[in-house]
Amino acid sequence: MRAVRFDGYGGPEVLTVGEVPVPRPGDGEVLIEVGAAGVTLPIVRLTRGGPDGGVPLPHVPGGEVAGRIVRLGSGVPERPGTGWQVGQRVTGLAFSGAYAQFAAVPVEFLDRVPDGVDDADAVALVRSGHVASAALHLAGLREGESEGERVLVTSAAGGVGHLAVQLARALGAGRVVAAIGGGSAKKEFLRGLGADRIVTYAEARAGLDESFDVVLDGTGADVQDSCLAALAPLGRLVSFNATGGKVDVNELRMTARTVIGLAMRHFAEHRRDVYDRHGQRLWELLASGAVRPAIHAVLPLEQAADAYRVIEARANLGKIVLNPMA
Ligand SMILES: NC(=O)c1ccc[n+]([C@@H]2O[C@H](COP(=O)([O-])OP(=O)(O)OC[C@H]3O[C@@H](n4cnc5c(N)ncnc54)[C@H](OP(=O)(O)O)[C@@H]3O)[C@@H](O)[C@H]2O)c1
Repeated sequence: MRAVRFDGYGGPEVLTVGEVPVPRPGDGEVLIEVGAAGVTLPIVRLTRGGPDGGVPLPHVPGGEVAGRIVRLGSGVPERPGTGWQVGQRVTGLAFSGAYAQFAAVPVEFLDRVPDGVDDADAVALVRSGHVASAALHLAGLREGESEGERVLVTSAAGGVGHLAVQLARALGAGRVVAAIGGGSAKKEFLRGLGADRIVTYAEARAGLDESFDVVLDGTGADVQDSCLAALAPLGRLVSFNATGGKVDVNELRMTARTVIGLAMRHFAEHRRDVYDRHGQRLWELLASGAVRPAIHAVLPLEQAADAYRVIEARANLGKIVLNPMA
């Protein structure tokens, strides 16, 4: 099968497309014919070595997929009408190997895709939507209980952020402010998604003239301190980036504020009922028009390097998707 791969670390130029064996689905996995794979910052970072000392080389990157089940691994019995079946349309998390014609995916992280939703929208909505939903859940934002809550979202124009802005609105937040690196295209994009105000990180660093009950921080690094400074007493900051800094717990105590770390894998494992409910709710919000995924571009595997360049330039408006069938 055709797959994107890299044999050594570097920038997007190290990515090539070549023939590799079709993976065998392992215990508890299904093999998916990939119709869309999401290009995300954590996967892009791996090409340069990643935060955890790199991956074994050569490596076929790609975590998020949508497509059709073509084979079941052992431990995934075919049960017509109940379990996973060959032919079903699904979206899931492969962790690696998704930028390819076929990918093995654990059933643990599979969601069914309803008829009428295409693969690009499915992968954009559900994979990033689970992160945004989990972050809002951990921050205590609940439908029908959070009227008037003020929410700040960083990385707001990215795959997760642009859905978090819309989900916060849909859950009833009173005010939603989007924070970005900058750029008029991003500002216009976020205004169109219903953000009440758009601020740049430079403005946030200089000090914001309002405070927030909830902050979702997908950026970390030098933006984290500005986020904490803008957190109201009893406010909750959920950090889900890979570059978060240290926090002073005693300072949090004195100001009665909370910082929460989110790693999706643990959330899905330990809050299974909530995770499943979020998956279902995302489809309902899509059907009602309350939330819509934005697709920045759909590109063939051969243009994976272009997709990586857009992410590294921090220029994407919503999700970038690779389509191995293109
Ligand atoms: N904890 C988890 O389980 C989990 C799961 C998925 C994603 N994430 C994290 O969530 C964040 C957003 O992911 P995503 O999928 O929405 O991103 P994405 O669609 O790949 O886009 C990246 C976005 O992040 C912003 N960004 C912040 N720091 C960046 C950096 N150092 N380099 C490039 N862009 C940067 C960019 O906009 P600005 O320049 O406007 O900030 C851009 O909008 C990332 O930090 C990612 O690692 C965490």
